Amino acid sequence: MKQRLADLREQALAELKAVEDAAALDSIRVKYLGKKGELTNLLKQMGKLSAEERPVMGQLANEIRAELEQKLDGKKQEIAEKMLEVRLQQEALDVTMPGKEQKIGHKHPMYLALDEIKDIFVGMGFTVLDGPEIELAELNFDRLNAEEGHPSRDWSDTFYFDEDSRVMLRSQTSPMQVRAMDSMPLPIRIIAPGRVYRKDEVDATHSPMFHQVEGMVIDKNVTMADLKGTLNAVMEKLFGEGTVTRFRPHHFPFTEPSCEMDVQCHKCGGKGCPTCKGEGWIEVLGAGMIHPNVLRMAGIDPNEYSGWAFGMGLERLAMRRFKIADLRLIFENDVRFLEQF
Ligand code: PHE
Repeated sequence: MKQRLADLREQALAELKAVEDAAALDSIRVKYLGKKGELTNLLKQMGKLSAEERPVMGQLANEIRAELEQKLDGKKQEIAEKMLEVRLQQEALDVTMPGKEQKIGHKHPMYLALDEIKDIFVGMGFTVLDGPEIELAELNFDRLNAEEGHPSRDWSDTFYFDEDSRVMLRSQTSPMQVRAMDSMPLPIRIIAPGRVYRKDEVDATHSPMFHQVEGMVIDKNVTMADLKGTLNAVMEKLFGEGTVTRFRPHHFPFTEPSCEMDVQCHKCGGKGCPTCKGEGWIEVLGAGMIHPNVLRMAGIDPNEYSGWAFGMGLERLAMRRFKIADLRLIFENDVRFLEQF
């Protein structure tokens, strides 16, 4: 019995020494000290011993159990410490390492220009409106005094959705004049930026989709002088003091009189160069005094109220603002170009 206890102790200690993980340690505990373990087995055989031997062996067995328990606990802690060490090493974080660079984009130059334009008009008391790109021909044409047969209504110029030419991609932001008159109380001071569509081939100055900023003022005693004064002030704020403009007579169905406004070319200062196609001037908007028919169709008495309106070409203003030579650069979205703003 004594020998078997000694062997068991030897064997258990040897196994304990070799163990390296918590699971194996646990199975050693079960194997020797468990309810059906080897030490328990031996103790069950104590009954066969003589009365003098029994307490001696019992004490020895208890000593071995106590020793094994202590060593098992010691090993358990050792393993836990080792695992913590490994984890700490694996999860080590080098806080001095440079981080991953996050690339953050920025606004497109045309929208940068639009933000400036909005700021200028809001500062003068205008409200900014947003409107639909899919529009009724009634608002794009009829209510703007462009009757059936007007050349701009032609299928070769306009994207229609239906055979009857009633629903279309708006060819101008001017239907926003009608929407404002129909929905807002007088006096009205609004701008309405957005996309417009025409059947144009792409080249350095044309695109089938482009942007306009519509503007409209309706109040009592509003004159062409207000229109010129306001637009000149806007151009000076946008392009800098001393910016030179000129107004040329023109025709639009919904304004009378009508005009176009040019800004002197920034490249040549009016002498004529490739950027302005030798003209010295760059056309940036159409404008005029709102036609009495348009006011009347909106239920506004032209004898009491008058107004003016304009439609700016946003791409052209952005091109002049940021000295961009070709319209296509605005739409191609080449980051090497866009990164410059
Ligand atoms: N809608 C006109 C165009 O697209 C511009 C314009 C707007 C003219 C408002 C007069 C008044 O050319």
